[in-house]
Amino acid sequence: ARSALIDPFGRKIDYLRISVTDRCDFRCTYCMDEDITFLPREHILSLEEIVQVAKTFIAMGTKRIRITGGEPLVRKNILWAIEQIANTDGLEELTITTNGSQLSKMANSLLDAGVSRINISLDTLQAERFYALTRRDKFQQVIDGIEAASKLPFKRLKINSVMLKNHNDDELHDLAQFALDHNMDISFIEEMPLGIITDHNRAATYLSSDDVIETLGKHYSLTPSSTTTSGPTRYYQVAGYDHKIGVISPHSHNFCDTCNRVRLTAEGRLLLCLGNEHSKDLKDVIRNPSVESISLESAIIDALALKPHKHHFNLDEAPQILRFMSATGG
Ligand code: GTP
Ligand code: 5AD
Ligand code: SF4
Repeated sequence: ARSALIDPFGRKIDYLRISVTDRCDFRCTYCMDEDITFLPREHILSLEEIVQVAKTFIAMGTKRIRITGGEPLVRKNILWAIEQIANTDGLEELTITTNGSQLSKMANSLLDAGVSRINISLDTLQAERFYALTRRDKFQQVIDGIEAASKLPFKRLKINSVMLKNHNDDELHDLAQFALDHNMDISFIEEMPLGIITDHNRAATYLSSDDVIETLGKHYSLTPSSTTTSGPTRYYQVAGYDHKIGVISPHSHNFCDTCNRVRLTAEGRLLLCLGNEHSKDLKDVIRNPSVESISLESAIIDALALKPHKHHFNLDEAPQILRFMSATGG
C-alpha cells in the first residue's frame, strides 16, 4: 500500500464521504426549498466513475467510506456500486447515511452488499410534524424502514436528528428513548448554514448541544464517553442502556482539529471541507485524461494540499456557502 494521505496541518485523511446524488425524495425545510433545481444527469458522476474514485482512495489508504446524498438509495443501481466498493481490499468499513424512506425494501440488500453501519435521519416522531419538516407524507414508511433495519445484524445503527428550537426540541427525550428502545445510538445535530433557503430562519432555530445535553440530563444519567466512530459525534454513556446519545456541534464545539475526511460531491468535485469551497474537479481528470494529463492519484494528492484548517460557520450572517448539503454529502 502507498503512504497515507496527510494534509498540510498533519491530519491523516482516511475517511471519504461520497454523495452519490443530489436528489432526494424529501424536501426538509432546513435542507432545500420545495422547488430546488437538481443537477442535470450529465453533470453527475456515473456509478462506474464513483467506484473508480473510491477504489483509488482505498489504494491510497482510505479505511472508511460513507455513502450519502441527497438520498443515496434513490439512485438507480446503487447497490451495485456499494457492493463493488465494500468488497475492495483495504477498506475497513462501508457505511451509509439515509433518510430511511427506502429501507424497508432495501435494508436486507444493503447488509448483503456489505454495508456495516447505517445512519438514519429522523427529526420527529409525530406524523404531522414530519410532514411539516420534510414536506412529504412518509413518516410511517421511515418508521417501517427503521424497524426493518433494526431486526438485521448490522454492526451499528444510528439515528441523526437535527435539532431546531421551537420546532422539535420538545421531542429530545422521545427521540432519544426511541433510539435506545430500538438498540440504536442517536446524534443530535446543530444545524449548519449551507445554501440559501427560504422560509427558515437558522439563527432563530439554533439550539446548542449543551442545551441538548442539559435537557436530556434530566431524564438520563449521562457520562462523557471516549467512544468514537471517527465521525464528529461526541458520545455520552447512558446509565442502564447499551447504546449512546451523542451530539454533533459544528458551532459550539468545533471539531476541525481532528478532521480526518474529505468529500466527493455528486458532480465529482473533491471537496476538502464542508464549510469551505476549496475543491478539485476530479470528474475532469477522469473524463479528459489526455487534456489534464495527470493521474487521478496525483490529482488527489494535489487537492489535499488545499484542505483548509477549519470552517467559519456563522449563523448571524447570510450563508457564506451557497452549495446545499444535499449536493455535498451530508
Ligand atoms: P460516523 O461516520 O458514523 O461517525 O457518522 P457521522 O455522524 O459523522 O455522519 P453522518 O453522515 O451521520 O452525518 C451526521 C452529521 O454530521 C451531518 O449533519 C453531517 O453533515 C455532519 N458532519 C459529518 N462530517 C462533518 C464534517 O467534517 N464537518 C461538519 N461540519 N459536519 C460534519
Ligand atoms: N445542518 C446540519 N445537518 C443537516 N442535515 C441536512 N442539512 C443539514 C444542515 N444544514 C442532516 C440531515 C441528515 C444528515 C446527513 O445531515 O438531516 O441527518
Ligand atoms: Fe433529503 Fe436529507 Fe435534505 Fe432531508 S436533509 S431533504 S432527507 S437530503
